[in-house]
Amino acid sequence: MARDDLMEKVVSLCKRRGFVYQGSEIYGGLAGMWDYAHYGLALKNNIKQLWWHTFVDSRDDMYGIDTAVIMNPKAWESSGHISSFADPLGDKMFNTMFKTSVGAGEEAMTAYLRPETAGGIFVNFKNVVDSFHPVLPFGIAQIGKVFRNEIAPRDFIFRVRELEQMEVEYFVRPSEWERYFEEWRKKVPGYLAAVGIDMDKVHELDVPDAERAHYSKRTIDFEFDFPFGTKELCGLAYRTSFDLSAHERGSGVELRYVDQETGEKIVPHVIEPSFGVDRTVLAVLLSAYAEDDLGRSSAEASEGKGEKRILLKFNPSIAPVKAAVFPLLKNKPELVTKAREIYSNLKSQIPNTMWDDNGNIGKRYRRQDEIGTPWCITVDFETLENNTVTVRDRDSGGQKRVEAEELVLILQHGLAGY
Ligand code: GAP
Repeated sequence: MARDDLMEKVVSLCKRRGFVYQGSEIYGGLAGMWDYAHYGLALKNNIKQLWWHTFVDSRDDMYGIDTAVIMNPKAWESSGHISSFADPLGDKMFNTMFKTSVGAGEEAMTAYLRPETAGGIFVNFKNVVDSFHPVLPFGIAQIGKVFRNEIAPRDFIFRVRELEQMEVEYFVRPSEWERYFEEWRKKVPGYLAAVGIDMDKVHELDVPDAERAHYSKRTIDFEFDFPFGTKELCGLAYRTSFDLSAHERGSGVELRYVDQETGEKIVPHVIEPSFGVDRTVLAVLLSAYAEDDLGRSSAEASEGKGEKRILLKFNPSIAPVKAAVFPLLKNKPELVTKAREIYSNLKSQIPNTMWDDNGNIGKRYRRQDEIGTPWCITVDFETLENNTVTVRDRDSGGQKRVEAEELVLILQHGLAGY
């Protein structure tokens, strides 16, 4: 498939099937703004949940936080964003932080929408240490919206002005930064693979000195072969003690870690894995998109006739819909009643199971393939006789007949396999 073609096809599928819409589309849109529809939102939530599970809930050394989007502007002064968070524009550098104003009348002051979630983590370092008494090394994690007035937003949800990030600031002893940098360097691809990104298309780039952010002493970008070029998907940075030291100077509040054994006070150094949610969603969609000849006869396929099947091969764990239940015919009340019973039972145990009786079975398969539903379950006349149903596998198109009572276990097993 030509690369441009792939991008066009994914964007079109996202709109057609309810993943992503252009922001304020009926008014002609607004550059760099996109809206997530029902399935895109479910996919995004699953991607975020897997991240939170991997990097926070399954570990003992991580603390979650959810900080305000608008912070005291002094914080951005201290962190260097007011002077340095800029892109070249003509002769001048253009600061890409969005300005807003807080308060009314003479009280009003200029503030900024945060350009990274990291800022809220650093200013809460002391609070977290005082509340939880963590032992080094430990991390603080945040998922949230950030805003960047990008000069040239482009490529669908790749470069946007309102985005979401998933970030960890991992605090370590200064002498141990290389060890933990290498540790995170292995963990990042582990997550990308788990979420279903095609790892043959992911490459590491050691970012040269001149191109690193002002706070970083070493950065590795994890790049992905997008159809419009090989570009940054997520990054890993060594931020040294830059931020804690800067906020200490700016706020006058000591931001140190006191070693519980030696009593020594140190400013920890920081390793920062930073993921963009929207870019991850795009890489997942591009990795999952496939077309094949299932659904047209071999004669049609060899003559280039008939329609190719489009499918999204999501890992079941992040698929927005896990299973769809169909009555074979919707005008047969006995089939519908039985299918409803099987559907309710399944949905109570496998959330995101969907009812689908729209159009004929072929149409329902096409629709579910495009949504990326791993399993379609059909209730037919044989079900009424022996309580068995057919389960169709999205990727192979193969069907097998199973006991309706085994459905929950079969699906749980399938979901756990990823
Ligand atoms: N706290 C570090 C930080 O913000 P960054 O490289 O500027 O580093 C991290 O951003 C990630 O956020 C990127 O790797 C990318 O996934 C995502 N990102 C940044 N700007 C973006 C934009 N305009 N649109 C979509 N995603 C963006």
